[in-house]
Amino acid sequence: MTNAFEVKDLMFTYPKNDKATIKGVSFEVEEGKIFGLLGPSGAGKSTTQKILTKLLDKYEGSITYFGKDLKSYQKEFYEEVGVGFEMPVHFNKLTAMENLQYFAGLYKKNIDYVDLLTKVGLFEARNQNVGEYSKGMKVRLNFVRALLNDPKMIFLDEPTAGLDPKNAKILKDLILGYKKQGKTIFITTHLMGDVEQLCDHVVFITGGIIGETSTVRDLKMKYGKKEVKVEYVENDQLLEVVFPLQNIGKDEAFLKLLESKTIETIHSGETTLEDIFIKVTGDEFHG
Ligand SMILES: Nc1ncnc2c1ncn2[C@@H]1O[C@H](COP(=O)(O)OP(=O)(O)O)[C@@H](O)[C@H]1O
Ligand SMILES: [Mg+2]
Repeated sequence: MTNAFEVKDLMFTYPKNDKATIKGVSFEVEEGKIFGLLGPSGAGKSTTQKILTKLLDKYEGSITYFGKDLKSYQKEFYEEVGVGFEMPVHFNKLTAMENLQYFAGLYKKNIDYVDLLTKVGLFEARNQNVGEYSKGMKVRLNFVRALLNDPKMIFLDEPTAGLDPKNAKILKDLILGYKKQGKTIFITTHLMGDVEQLCDHVVFITGGIIGETSTVRDLKMKYGKKEVKVEYVENDQLLEVVFPLQNIGKDEAFLKLLESKTIETIHSGETTLEDIFIKVTGDEFHG
């Protein structure tokens, strides 16, 4: 097992701020895996990505990239790293093709970007000025841009934000395909659907503080509970109540409810990642 990144006791304060934005975080990103940095808005996800991609360098703590100090890498670093920014800046007066031609020209190695543009559904709009693109089209173009140099290490900051489910799925399938090719992927997100479908390892960041890295499965084992949700009608109102699945047959409140109310639906399920997200980022790291 090789680690693409090893981050230890990372601290970072923006020059204009007096308080640190990243307050001593440590984690490892394994080669060939999809690592998800999760957290609410303002948690420090984009800042962390900017540090790992060498856009912010006045940090404390240590970061290695494939065993070598990140600071020892120069321009060659960007030949093998692809970066999808959260707020993409494109040339609005140029077409998608012109934008891609320009950015592809910055690298020694290029992919067949017309092919990728086609896969993300932008072929028809390839000669349209990007200024006329919708938000979702810009997000997809940004994705193509991040892959232009066929990077072995891919950073994607909120890659599916603003996409409809169909286009989000196309991007997620592409991301899974890149993982199959052995690429390492670092994504930041607050969308739990993405996490569930993509991530091998995840870590929560809240207020610049990070928890322990775990797998999605372990997270669900730790926080997830099997439960039964019952919807019933009372005084013309639809109400909902949740019971633990364990020993449900002896749960008196549950049995009484079945007997005495008009039941609309009964569903069994497990605690969703959404619930886990709120639980973990809501109470644990704020204190
Ligand atoms: N250029 C900047 N200068 C000063 N503070 C910043 C800058 N960029 C982000 N911040 C602050 O750092 C914190 C983390 O931001 P960010 O990393 O963008 O969070 P996230 O990506 O998790 O939403 C926020 O409080 C934000 O206001
Ligand atoms: Mg962000």
